[in-house]
This record gives sequence, C-alpha cells and structure tokens, in this order.
Amino acid sequence: APDLATTAPASDAATAPGAAAASVGRRFPDGFLFGAATAAYQIEGAAHEGGRTDSIWDTFSRVPGAVINADNGDVACDHYHRYPEDVALMRELGLQTYRFSTSWARVRPDGGAVNPEGVDFYSRLVDELLGAGIKPWLTLYHWDLPQALEEQGGWANRDTAFRFRDYALTMHDALGDRVGVWTTLNEPWCSSFLSYTGGAHAPGRQDVAAGLAAAHHLMLGHGLAVQALRERDASLELGITLNLTVAKPVDPTHPGDLDAARRIDGQFNRVFLDPIFRGHYAGDLLADVGHLGLRDVIRPGDLEMISTPIDALGVNYYHGEFVSDRPAEHPIAGEAPTDRAIRSPFPAAENVHFHAQGLPRTAMGWEVQPDGLRELLDRVHREYADAAGVKLFVTENGAAYDDDVAPDGSVHDAERTEFLHAHLGAILDAIEGGTPVHGYFYWSLMDNFEWAWGYDKRFGLVRVDYDTQERTVKDSGLAYRRVIRDRALPA
Ligand code: NOJ
Repeated sequence: APDLATTAPASDAATAPGAAAASVGRRFPDGFLFGAATAAYQIEGAAHEGGRTDSIWDTFSRVPGAVINADNGDVACDHYHRYPEDVALMRELGLQTYRFSTSWARVRPDGGAVNPEGVDFYSRLVDELLGAGIKPWLTLYHWDLPQALEEQGGWANRDTAFRFRDYALTMHDALGDRVGVWTTLNEPWCSSFLSYTGGAHAPGRQDVAAGLAAAHHLMLGHGLAVQALRERDASLELGITLNLTVAKPVDPTHPGDLDAARRIDGQFNRVFLDPIFRGHYAGDLLADVGHLGLRDVIRPGDLEMISTPIDALGVNYYHGEFVSDRPAEHPIAGEAPTDRAIRSPFPAAENVHFHAQGLPRTAMGWEVQPDGLRELLDRVHREYADAAGVKLFVTENGAAYDDDVAPDGSVHDAERTEFLHAHLGAILDAIEGGTPVHGYFYWSLMDNFEWAWGYDKRFGLVRVDYDTQERTVKDSGLAYRRVIRDRALPA
C-alpha cells in the first residue's frame, strides 16, 4: 500500500523548476474549499457502545431482505474507535474541510435526555480535526432517527420536528464554540419519500401520506433548527443539503415526456426548493400531490418557519435522469438492490419511467453525466440561491466502482479518478460561466455502509478492508490530493 509520507505522487515531479506550469491545468478560485464527506451510521460502528441506542437503521437492517447480504452498521469502518487514524488520513490527503454527521441516537439516545458519552465522542472528533487544521462541517441528520421516535410516528409525526430542534441545540451546546458550519438535513428526499413512501430505506414504510408528511415535517424541523441556532449565534453558517436532479424528457417533443420531467422535478427538487427559498409549494405540485396528504399537514406559519433564511445550500449530485411516460427498453437500476417489493417513492408519478442513455455507468448502475452537475448548479443559482444570497456547495459527488486490489495492496481506480476530475471540471465550467460555487466534498472519504446495498458498493478515496479495518489510499485519493495541493486540475 502506498505510504503517503514517503511515496511522492507522480505529480510531484511537476514541482521541479520549469515543470510546474506545464502540469497544472484549470485553476480553482481562491477560497474554494476541498473536502470529503461521510455519515455517522455509514462509518462509526460501535452501535451498542457509549450509551447509544437503536436508530431506525439498526432496526431496518434486521429486517430480512432489507439490506443486501444482511449487512448492518454494527461495526462499519469502526471509525468510533479509529477516528484519530482517519483524521490523520484526511490530513495526508490535504483536505481543508470534512463533512460528517452526528448520530442522534448516540447523543440523545431515546430522543430524550442527553448522553454525555455520545456528545464527548463528537467533541473529541472536532478537536482532532481542528488540531489537524481541518474545518469541521457538521450535518445533524443523515437518516438515523432514534427508533424510539419512530415508534411515536417518526417523521410522519409533527412532534419529531420539535424534537429535532432540541437535538440541534444539544449539539450546539457541546460544539458551538468550535463548529461554525451546520447543515440541518442531508437529502430529505431520501429520508421522506424513499423511506416512508418507497420503503427502500429505514423505516421501510410504504405509505404515500406518511412520505408527504415526513417531507413537510423534515423541512419544519430544518426551519425550527435554523431559527433556534441563529438566535444562539448569528455568526454560524447554516444550511441544508438536497439531492437534486436534472430531469430531462427523453423526447422533448412528446408532451407525455415533458410532463414526466415536470412531475419528477416537482417531486424531487421543487418540493424542497420552493418552501425553503420561497415559502410556498408550487401550484402544480399541490395539484399533483396535495390531496394525497400534503395539504392536511401544512399548518399556518409552517412555510414562514421553513423559509427562515439560510447561508449555504449543499447540492448532492450523482447522475441526471432521462424520463418518459413510456417504459424504457433499457431502464436505469432502481434505488434498492433487494427483491423486496418496493413501491415508487414518487406519489402521482407511478407512470414515469427512467431511461438509460447508453453512457458509461458506475457500479450503482448510475450513468456518468458530469454536464448535469453544471446544468443543475446554474439552474439552482439562477432560480433560487442568487436572489437569496445563499452560497452553493457541492456537498456530495462520487462513484462506486468494483475496485481491484493490486498484489502490492494498491488500488488503481482510474475510473474514479476520471469521474472526480470530470465533475470538478463541470464545477469549473459553472464557475467560469458565472455561477459561484464555494466548495466540493467527494463522497466518500472511505468505503462504507452503502445503506440498502450494504458494504457491496465502494465509494471511497480510501479503501477499507472490512476484515482487518486496514485503510489504503486509492489512486483516486492520490489524484484528489494533487488537485488540492495544486488548487487546479491536472493539465
Ligand atoms: C447520498 C447519501 O447522502 C449518502 O449517504 C450515500 O452513501 C451516497 N449518496 C451514495 O449513494
């Protein structure tokens, strides 16, 4: 395995006099932040230690057939015990910032009283990051609701939004002196529609009304937390991360395809963007899904709370969608690998079909479409972020590939390096075209528990050997290190 302390990446030759200019390509603007991301349940392990209780993902992982190979997060990357080593790796890669999430079930075990041991873990992690000169970027909710709160209705229960605010304040009590950037929710589309309507993610419910209620209550919790944190400290950078997509009609001259694209945009993107940025749900979305339960859960004042001003919008982008009202000859793989019956997470869009374009695919079956990232950033800037003075960040982007380990232990993951460079190039295209983007987080720092796909899918810049917990920086990690060092793509 390459030892970063002693093995100079190939590009180091470029630092020789006269060579630098030739090897460095497009440059990133000053202030652009380079980072990598993870999430608590996916890496921490120590599921039954330190006073932590079950989250919905612990429970869901025990459901036969819910997760491929019956994998779970009991041990994961054992980051709970190995965080100093992991922070040292981040430092070797040159990361400027690290996006991680805190586990609600570790910190307030049953959604109630604070667990000092759980809080202390994050406090030590933050100190370790600061000691390494890495800026902590904290996400409060990356899908692991305490099971006790699910038993009271989970996100379909309005009260959970208020419990979320309490949890946010608990974290601020502990870390507010050292953490300046706070993301409320990661990908609420997944923790509502995919989880409560589609049943592919925890808690595995398949209830259209519950999914819509969950989406609304997640956003309410976001607004409540932003308002409360802002009151505590006006200098915090507060925001949310959304998984947005570019939904294009397969045939832009076919009205059915155009309508499919409109509905997916509504039920994926605008269902969150409009309430958060504009304080309302779009008329067409309400016409499509309002009667399925959404109208019932909106109370006076909610949309004002949800649209409490934020500072940062995180965009997670993996691939675009080509949609049609007609079935595809080559459909794109679904969101869950198991043979459980999963329902469509899109209410009122059951007759929308996702078509493949014949582009190269990652191990997830997702087509590689870097241009989609530029289009998405441009659109979000133009239609939402610019007017609100909100800074855009790419808070996740990455690819799973079936990495081979060479006899010497190294991982030559050329496809991932290409993916990384292509998407960073798309961000530069956006920036050069007038859309300011302030940072990029590769997903993920290391291989980890990929939800319903278990450990089967590897997204890391760092390989994890789950038998030994040995970490190995992949070639893509070395390539990212070079980009960060040069603050430029290679020529
Ligand atoms: C989105 C999620 O935030 C993250 O948890 C997941 O592992 C990646 N995408 C890859 O699917």
